[in-house]
Order: sequence, then C-alpha cells, then structure tokens
Amino acid sequence: MRFVAGLLIAHLPDVVAKGDDMQVETLSTATTQTSANAAEIAAIANLKGGVGKSTTTIMLADGLAYFYGLEVLVIDLDSQANSSQILLTESGIKAAHEQEKGADFLLKQFVDGEPPAAAPFIVPNAVSLDELRRAEERDERLGWVAALPSHPQLRLGEMSLEEDWYSGTGTPSSLAAALTEHFRAAVKPLLSLYDVILIDCPPHLSPLARAALATADSFILPTLADPISTWGTKQFSDWVCEHVTPDLPERNFVVITRFRNTALARQIRNELEDVYLKDRFFGTAIPDSINVVRAMDRPAADSYSSFRGKYASVTGDVRRLAQRYVEFMGQRTGQAWKMVRD
Ligand SMILES: Nc1ncnc2c1ncn2[C@@H]1O[C@H](COP(=O)(O)OP(=O)(O)OP(=O)(O)O)[C@@H](O)[C@H]1O
Ligand SMILES: [Mg+2]
Repeated sequence: MRFVAGLLIAHLPDVVAKGDDMQVETLSTATTQTSANAAEIAAIANLKGGVGKSTTTIMLADGLAYFYGLEVLVIDLDSQANSSQILLTESGIKAAHEQEKGADFLLKQFVDGEPPAAAPFIVPNAVSLDELRRAEERDERLGWVAALPSHPQLRLGEMSLEEDWYSGTGTPSSLAAALTEHFRAAVKPLLSLYDVILIDCPPHLSPLARAALATADSFILPTLADPISTWGTKQFSDWVCEHVTPDLPERNFVVITRFRNTALARQIRNELEDVYLKDRFFGTAIPDSINVVRAMDRPAADSYSSFRGKYASVTGDVRRLAQRYVEFMGQRTGQAWKMVRD
C-alpha cells in the first residue's frame, strides 16, 4: 500500500496485472443485470460536452418516477456536479459532502481498499416533485428519486489515483478494469432497491466514466442536431462499440436535445435517424426551450414543484421521453412498466 494525497492506495496496478487487451475484454463482458427484477443501469454519455446529458438525466429521472412510479437512482460521475446541483442544489451538495456522501467517497473506498458498497454514499431523498413527496407522506409512495451525487473533489481524487497508478506498471485500461470491478460490486446490492439507475457521465473518458460504461446495461446518447455534435456522437459510438460493447446499437437510446425546428436541424435529425444511427432506438426530440432551463433550477433543497409547475410547456416532452424509454426497455428486455399518473 502507498500513500497518495493522504489516501492509501490498496489497489496497485500489479495486483490486477493483466495486459491491455485483456482489460478491454474485461470491460466488454457481462452486464450487471442479475435477475428479472434487477434495476436497469443506463449510462447517459457522449464525449461531446454540452449536448444535454445532465438535463436528459434529470428529465428522464423525473419522468420515470412521476409517470411510471419507478424508483430511480441518479449517479453523478461528473465532477462538474451538474445533475447533483439540479437535484440537490449547491447547498445540498455541500451538505452531502459534509456527510461523506457522493461519488468521491466511493472512489476513496476503492483507493483505501475497502469492500465495495455504494449504498452509504447515497442521498435517499432527491425528489423535487410535490406529488411524489405528498404520496410518500401518505405512505402511498409511488415513484422516487435518490442521488449518489458528485462534487468537484471527485476529479482531484481521480487525478491523484491516476498519477499513482501510472507511475508503476498501470495503464489507463488496467485502472478502468479495476475500477469497473469495484463499481460493479458496489452497485450490485442496489439492483434490487431501484428500478432504474441513471449514470450521468462526464464529457470525457475518466477512469470512473469508463467503469460506468462497462457496468451499464444500456446507453442513453443525447446529441444535438448540428454537424459538430453529429461527428462527436459518431466517434463516441465507434469507441464504445470497439472498447466496451460491440452490441451498442441494440442497447442504445438516442435523444436529440435542444432541437430547433429549422430546415438544417430537421435535415440533420433525418440523417441521424436514417443514416448515421439508423440501427438505434430514438427518443423524442427535446425542444430548445427556456422552460427546460427553468425546470432545472431548484430554488432550495426543501422546495418542491408540481410536475406541471416544474416543466410547464415541456411537460408533454418529458412524458414522451419517459414513454419512449419505457418502449425501448420493453423491446430490449421485455420489461413492461405501466403508466401510473397522467
Ligand atoms: N432542451 C433545452 N433547451 C434549452 N437549453 C437546454 C436544453 N437542454 C439543455 N440546455 C442547456 O444546455 C446547456 C448544456 O446542458 P447540459 O449541462 O445538460 O449538457 P451536458 O451534456 O450535461 O454538459 P457537460 O458535457 O458539460 O456535462 C445547459 O446550459 C442547459 O441548461
Ligand atoms: Mg453534464
């Protein structure tokens, strides 16, 4: 064991002494799904920044919890902590960090060589919808959102770990493989507690993001209908197919976000659907709207809105997003979730 930035490194690279090729193989194997009732793990990812990953994560979490009464866990693996901020507010993130909750503590657990367990780092109440909270108060809980938040500290922790890992025989792939093993084992006990686990990934391939991709059952790919995003999306898709799972197309749910109904955007959307990503399942296009931006602003950790109050003119879009995701799941796994609210 070695000390790095005050942390004990228990997982030295030579402990996982495998070649890079083997690591790639490890990353591309099994899904974490273990039983018929196990949660679906979906990674919301794209290497292109600012395409709506965090926003899509939250809209889907709210939509699945509200319309389908599902228990949703949002895991934020991006040190920008955007989805955590949307769910918990800035003060909520701070409070969570003080209580040693969050992905950076999961990383510390790995570094310290402690047994994998994600449950202690979860903030169980990340609900912002009045209807869900009231149902809970009446002991009629139907739909919930919990969070395993992020914190800027996460990136610093990852950088320390990377520095130490690569100073010996370790490679990015061996680190990703060791983290994948820890991450999979840490979330396994959660599979019976939630219906869906949504992992908001950073716009880069951090070691933890690679672990998340290797753990995910499905991949939600938000993209914009513009040429640069299309190029980035294609590259990301190719990388996942090559390094994580060749059957990405069957497990891929694509969401066009911030859609402006212009001739160019329509043309690019058609190209994505009919050419570049024609073998994927497409969600509804989310319009570019100030109401999406407003919905992501929670004034305080103890403030709640009705679903329609929160989403206003985009309520129908969030409903359709959840509906399409449920159809995607139905087609992929046979899972038949029913709508519980209108
Ligand atoms: N449908 C929308 N209409 C208008 N603005 C939107 C919409 N979706 C997202 N945005 C805005 O676009 C910006 C990027 O969104 P978001 O943070 O969700 O992207 P991201 O892919 O998670 O970014 P990053 O790569 O930095 O993690 C934010 O300012 C967000 O408010
Ligand atoms: Mg984000």
